[in-house]
Amino acid sequence: MNTKEFVEDLNSRFFNGELSLQFKEKLSHLPVDRPDVFVFVERMFGFMHSSGMPAKDVSVVHGEILGSLLARILPGAWEGRVPPITVQGRHAIIDRYIKTNPWITPGNKSMLDIGCGFPPYTTIETANYFPEWSITGVDPSLPVYLIYDAEENYATLDENKSTVYFQPAIPSIENWNALLNDSAATKNRFENLLEELLVKPTNKGYPRLEIDPIKKYETDRLSFKKGGIGQMDIGSKDVIRCFNVLFYFKDDFYENALEWFAESTNEGALVLIGANWAESTECYYNVYQKSDDHLETKEFAFSLDSICPIGIVTWYANHGDDRHKAELIKYIGMLRKDHSFMDAFYGFHDAQRNKYGICPRDDQGYYGVIDPSIQPQDLWVFTRKMLDELNDAGLNQKAVDVLNNTGLKARVNEVGHIAIAP
Ligand SMILES: C[S@@+](CC[C@H](N)C(=O)[O-])C[C@H]1O[C@@H](n2cnc3c(N)ncnc32)[C@H](O)[C@@H]1O
Repeated sequence: MNTKEFVEDLNSRFFNGELSLQFKEKLSHLPVDRPDVFVFVERMFGFMHSSGMPAKDVSVVHGEILGSLLARILPGAWEGRVPPITVQGRHAIIDRYIKTNPWITPGNKSMLDIGCGFPPYTTIETANYFPEWSITGVDPSLPVYLIYDAEENYATLDENKSTVYFQPAIPSIENWNALLNDSAATKNRFENLLEELLVKPTNKGYPRLEIDPIKKYETDRLSFKKGGIGQMDIGSKDVIRCFNVLFYFKDDFYENALEWFAESTNEGALVLIGANWAESTECYYNVYQKSDDHLETKEFAFSLDSICPIGIVTWYANHGDDRHKAELIKYIGMLRKDHSFMDAFYGFHDAQRNKYGICPRDDQGYYGVIDPSIQPQDLWVFTRKMLDELNDAGLNQKAVDVLNNTGLKARVNEVGHIAIAP
């Protein structure tokens, strides 16, 4: 099956053949040499379909991300390794959730951020947010060398001076394409730059080299260790955060991770496992509390923008047995089935998209493109603003009411997310 046939097949199986021409055109850029991407996209379409998403809610931007960006960020582009992708401000709402959580006892705590990514922006932000806490960031891919090129794109390299990962200064689709169109050449370029900078280090500006770069982030309350889930003794923590990690693994890995988290926590500790995107958009997570030596599920929570996301985290899963996705898609499906809720949601949200110029509906009613005057760094700030406005307008409470009417035990939690108790 060629790409065009693949796209048409998905269109008829999951969207009654109703996807827009523009979306299909964007999706037709899927790289033919990456079967992993095709399988991934098919899985995503399955999630969209199960949640009751109509073709008109699939935007041109979704097509662009799936057709051109996704291949760059999947493990298949990095020899099967999980890329240490992270974005500043990603966990701001999760930090707030921890601070305002009713189940955690007050006082200074120890916290583990497992799979913290590199550079560990979000761990540093959390350490700033909880200045009295003792925070440890752990990740298997903490680099030996960090290089910035003249354009401030960066690469991490291992002890063999071989490039592990690179990322554009501003991770827009165009900037990713510039680096990844010939990824071997980009890796070579960074490796050559490393040799140059080792001989002739620069003191300021760009290009720049940092050796054992994680050290510079450490303070007396913030430390980092190289390692992974279940691979080390980390002591006993009061809080564990594991975000944007477990959706790379099969569900048995999740189950084993829970055991290791239970062993690595104090009685009463909170464990948060989930995913999100920039500015804490498209957020979903499970909250567990350690009680009598095991982890008890307290709630599953998600942000309202997941119903009609601008990005793709809502459907992102590397395996079909992803338990978070199953739960998230189930709740979105319940909300989407409630016509009176969806009328209220669309009424408010479509007006927001028009106001901000972020994928408003086109003449035929399809969610479209982003106003080109919006800077990449502003896009997610506006997306988050839209989420806050949806919550301020009480749509999160309306969603909770819908779920409660089906017999679930839902609430708006301390940070405005829709939270469902087991
Ligand atoms: C997408 S990044 C997420 C970074 C950060 N937690 C965030 O939310 O922005 C996923 C990280 O998981 C790490 N990882 C991969 N396998 C892991 C494992 N077995 N245990 C812990 N972390 C792992 C990767 O090295 C990578 O840095």
